Amino acid sequence: MLSIKNLTHTYPNGVQALKNVSLDVPKGMFGLLGPNGAGKSSLMRTIATLQQPTSGSITFGNTDVLTDPDTIRRTLGYLPQDFGVYPRGSAYDLLDHLAVLKGITNSKERKQVVEGLLVQTNLFEVRKKKLSTYSGGMRQRFGIAQALIGDPQLIIVDEPTAGLDPEERNRFHNLLAEIGEDVVVILSTHIVDDVADLCPNMAILAGGEIISKGTPAELTEAIDGAIWKKVIEKSELEAYKKSHNVISSHLTVGKTVIFVNAPANPGEGFEASTPTLEDVYFSAIAESRNGSDTAAATAA
Ligand SMILES: Nc1ncnc2c1ncn2[C@@H]1O[C@H](COP(=O)(O)OP(=O)(O)OP(=O)(O)O)[C@@H](O)[C@H]1O
Ligand SMILES: [Mg+2]
Repeated sequence: MLSIKNLTHTYPNGVQALKNVSLDVPKGMFGLLGPNGAGKSSLMRTIATLQQPTSGSITFGNTDVLTDPDTIRRTLGYLPQDFGVYPRGSAYDLLDHLAVLKGITNSKERKQVVEGLLVQTNLFEVRKKKLSTYSGGMRQRFGIAQALIGDPQLIIVDEPTAGLDPEERNRFHNLLAEIGEDVVVILSTHIVDDVADLCPNMAILAGGEIISKGTPAELTEAIDGAIWKKVIEKSELEAYKKSHNVISSHLTVGKTVIFVNAPANPGEGFEASTPTLEDVYFSAIAESRNGSDTAAATAA
């Protein structure tokens, strides 16, 4: 549906944020997982036609996104990472205004659309309150409401769950899950569970490159038998990082548990660990960092 080919982006200051990115994104939820600075927002902004890439192509169905941005904009819903707040207006007024901009000029139809979205995002009760008084979770739900105006076929949400408490995150997940399988939804995140819970297809972006892609099940399967764990003393951590491919370490009640990716049992005291999507993520990032010493990622 959405096809990205050999996309490269270099900012004027010389930072190469995207390196030869190619992705085929089918209908449904697609998770774009990557650490800070990976290039997620750069990719999202490029697909949302807010910036032109240095080279490469993007097509959505039969539309060339880069040469025909107006056509895409008509069918695009976008929730940017730094969604600005409009302090003076109420949720209702702002949605109504944005719906006019999206071309819903019939006021009766617009009322229906706006009220429907407020109900869907559970904001109907607070629709007359100023957005400046909203909590973070309410703002994100408002962000989704505005992205859904006009039945978009391509929805881009950039790190929508960062900073939400578990309840709001869950609410947001449910909202996204309801959007339906008939549209393309790209969700960028650094939270593995967002992808594990929601996305039938995913890719991992690091250092501007796609380092892994597939279904969560496939990717997890691919490292089956390669994840090993061991409880060590905290003081031993640095030594293990030097001698083993430590993909992550967890501190639990005074003990440190390390996870190692290795084709066979890496030594005494290690036991096999059933791989999770988090192991997939940390393994991919460790591998992409490799070449430079030992790779490691630490999870809190
Ligand atoms: N407008 C810009 N000008 C110059 N460099 C930029 C610009 N925007 C982003 N970058 C750089 O491009 C790289 C990718 O940034 P980007 O914001 O796309 O990453 P990200 O994956 O969205 O990160 P985060 O998870 O922190 O939001 C980073 O090195 C960043 O510093
Ligand atoms: Mg970002």
